[in-house]
Amino acid sequence: MQLPALTSVTVEVLVDNFYDVFETSRPGLVERVAPGRLPKPLVAAHGLAYWITLTSNGQVTRLVMDTANSPLPFFNNLEALSHAPAEADALVVSHGHPDHYGGLIEFLGRRTTPLPIYLHEDSFFPKLLITPRGRIGPWALKREELEKLGAVLQVNRGPALVLDQALLTGTIEASTPYETPLPGAKRVVAGQEEHDPFTDEQALVMNVAGRGLVVVAGCSHPGVVNMIRYAQKLTGIEKLAALIGGFHLTAGGPELIRQTIQGLTALNPELIVAGHCTGFKALSQLALAFPDSFMVSCVGTRVIVGQ
Ligand SMILES: [Fe+2]
Ligand SMILES: [Fe+2]
Repeated sequence: MQLPALTSVTVEVLVDNFYDVFETSRPGLVERVAPGRLPKPLVAAHGLAYWITLTSNGQVTRLVMDTANSPLPFFNNLEALSHAPAEADALVVSHGHPDHYGGLIEFLGRRTTPLPIYLHEDSFFPKLLITPRGRIGPWALKREELEKLGAVLQVNRGPALVLDQALLTGTIEASTPYETPLPGAKRVVAGQEEHDPFTDEQALVMNVAGRGLVVVAGCSHPGVVNMIRYAQKLTGIEKLAALIGGFHLTAGGPELIRQTIQGLTALNPELIVAGHCTGFKALSQLALAFPDSFMVSCVGTRVIVGQ
């Protein structure tokens, strides 16, 4: 699939699990906010939301990817970072877990114009989790509720372009033997609970001229290495300028962390910015394995690839 070469991509972390004012910047590539200069304080929460700005031949496109776990951190940080719902050209939902669409209904409610929303058809199945602390859920995104509030749904299964500028991978094709879906994750299909194969989770992929791919992942339930490899296969571009997202590794145990680090090493990303569901053990091992390219994703972090 031909993916247009963009001039630049900026991924700004609106909501993530972390906020550490001592995390360093990397001038021209990763910038952290100076908290005292913001109109209000940022908050961290178990959820994910990004504000993504694409530039191409002087044209600017603004995308929101995910809307955190609730309106509270999402709108607080949106305002703190001086963004407004009306400025978004489209919104992407990475997968059907509520820590990624918690602010969506209110986001639509605060707009006065229709908004294209890109998501996988299988994101609409009710989802639940069986955890060591018990059953959680089910939760469900409701198609009619979104449409009533002005969503123009762009539903896909396979690869699809977002506003002709970025690629949504569609269902991820597995290519590693070690990345297997979360055992306690369930979905409800035709009234029956079943193991969730995470066919709904997709990566957002951009191509920056002269730099390569920027891959943004929500929870990486299908496996972060699978997601990158599939993005490379779809685009025919090998070079990986930046990988940003939650990698969901710690629950899989030490062997999954070890093998994933091996898989990422082979893919040679210029920059890895991990947060959200990656887990502390995995984050600490990624930091040791990639001393020059790894950075923790904190609220307010901006990754800038291109000019
Ligand atoms: Fe998830
Ligand atoms: Fe998540």
